[in-house]
Amino acid sequence: MKQNTIITLFITTVLFTSCAGVKLQDYPMEPCVKLPGDKTVSVMNDKCGLCHKGDFATKELICGRKAAIIDAVSAKRMPKFKNLSENELKTILKWEQ
Ligand code: HEC
Repeated sequence: MKQNTIITLFITTVLFTSCAGVKLQDYPMEPCVKLPGDKTVSVMNDKCGLCHKGDFATKELICGRKAAIIDAVSAKRMPKFKNLSENELKTILKWEQ
């Protein structure tokens, strides 16, 4: 019981510190060439939103990080602690629709 409490606290702390307040402002914005489609936005809200609240709040913000996003998902660094399905990955890579 006591051990469970400690483990739960530990996990909560790890999740909290890794999820709350991620900010991509240290990563440079690029000029937006093509806004992401609704499908891309909805995958990103679903899979990235929890941690990257402000980062990907608008299509313009997502657009300005396109290269970083494509790089992170292709290399499977992101989403952290989660996986994208084959379709979700394709959706982001194609910047659909
Ligand atoms: C569980 C929390 C979490 C989720 C979910 C998440 N991220 Fe991140 N992301 C982070 C953290 C924390 C960092 C800061 C750098 C690090 O720790 O790797 C980060 C950094 C980044 C970076 C910059 C560093 C790099 O590795 O390129 C990009 C781009 C990024 N995330 C994109 C995404 C995208 C796109 C998704 C959704 C497909 C996503 N993230 C989902 C937590 C998360």
